[in-house]
Amino acid sequence: MPDARKTLWGHPKGLYILFFTELWERFSYYGMRAILVLYLTAATTGDNPGLGWENASALELYGWYTMLVYLMGVPGGWIADRWLGQKKTVMIGGLLLCAGHCILALEALWAFYLGLALIVSGVGALKPNISIMVGGLYPGRDVRRDSGFTLFYIGINIGAFLAPLLVGYLGEVVSWHYGFGLAGLGMILGQLIYIWGQRYLTGVGDSPAERVRHTEEDNKPLTREEKDRMILLFLSFLIVIVFWGAYEQAGGLMNIYAKEKIDRMVGGFEIPASYFQSLPALYVILFGGPVALMWVRIRNKNPEVASLFKMAVGTIIMGAGFLLMAGASGEADSASHGKAAIWWILGAYLLHVIGELCTSPVALSFISKLAPHKYSSFMMGAYFATTGLGNKLAGEVGEAAQKFGETAIFNGIFSFCTMFGILLLLFLKKLNKLAHDAEAVQLPGQG
Ligand code: PHE
Repeated sequence: MPDARKTLWGHPKGLYILFFTELWERFSYYGMRAILVLYLTAATTGDNPGLGWENASALELYGWYTMLVYLMGVPGGWIADRWLGQKKTVMIGGLLLCAGHCILALEALWAFYLGLALIVSGVGALKPNISIMVGGLYPGRDVRRDSGFTLFYIGINIGAFLAPLLVGYLGEVVSWHYGFGLAGLGMILGQLIYIWGQRYLTGVGDSPAERVRHTEEDNKPLTREEKDRMILLFLSFLIVIVFWGAYEQAGGLMNIYAKEKIDRMVGGFEIPASYFQSLPALYVILFGGPVALMWVRIRNKNPEVASLFKMAVGTIIMGAGFLLMAGASGEADSASHGKAAIWWILGAYLLHVIGELCTSPVALSFISKLAPHKYSSFMMGAYFATTGLGNKLAGEVGEAAQKFGETAIFNGIFSFCTMFGILLLLFLKKLNKLAHDAEAVQLPGQG
């Protein structure tokens, strides 16, 4: 059996290579991101000097940066589809990231901008393509694909959970540049794993030229079914905007809310507001498995349950988290000390993550199933670009809370997500027709 087909714990070994590569890539990304704004705004004097920027300029750069990293997924995906294939593009993306993070460790302004530019290009080349490669490990209609993506998603969140704690601590307490350097070391480790693991990835993410048998297929125009599937994918991107537009309040509005209006005293210790930022990642690690298992069970009984259904349910569950936030708001407004109990926000993040687990890994898997082969990475890139727009929308919605008050915004997000989810469920049958059975599953070893 070729190495690429060997399995470990029921999944192809290549999955674990991609799991650890992406874990470290996310470690470097979230680690650097955790200290970026702090570094920009830190005073230019003192033991650990920063760049001394105003808050507003720092947040503006942050907004552009976090949007651009995902927008660059479009050219990153296109290059892979047209020329290099995903496997090589991920390799190049990883090298750009190693260079970018390490250059940030240098103390010079040119190094700062060059580092950011390299990271933006590196994430664009790596993130959509590595996600497509996960799908490539499960040929055809393999039923393990969804759970493979869930495992991969757990890897992402292990990186996302550890990074703010380790890079954040080193950067803030010792030196910003050591923090950036640690993010760089993480990426180098991920890159070494990827290089070593090539043997488990044969036949996955090849370039059009390497895919000898597919060359003919690559030249053919899209069939009607493939076109329908593309339309369905673009429609599903609407869910992505709504989902991330709501969910990404985490870093902004909910972060500030936790700081100002949640009673964070537990046993005489005040939990820092920033700790809540690691909570969603921790929840993903804890509940990723159970939620995936729950869907497998449901699907075994109801084979028609497919991705769009999960995404609609996920949006409703995530939206319900905002009902809890509205509850917190009500309690804080009426309490004499102006604060709400911590349970509200713990519960809200839990619902957010259960919703995320029904939606986000499922969306990755959905795209890898539906996109025509020759546009697979481009479509994944377009998906990431859409999440970039969702993030930007989240910022705008969060800002609107200044004007309309938190209670109105939390209630508004809850109502919108619920109605949007129900509408999707109503049109589910029609939408699913556009998939033309791309989601029918096949058990491992069958045919
Ligand atoms: N935690 C996810 C990740 O880093 C968040 C995300 C989802 C980012 C979708 C982009 C797109 O992968």
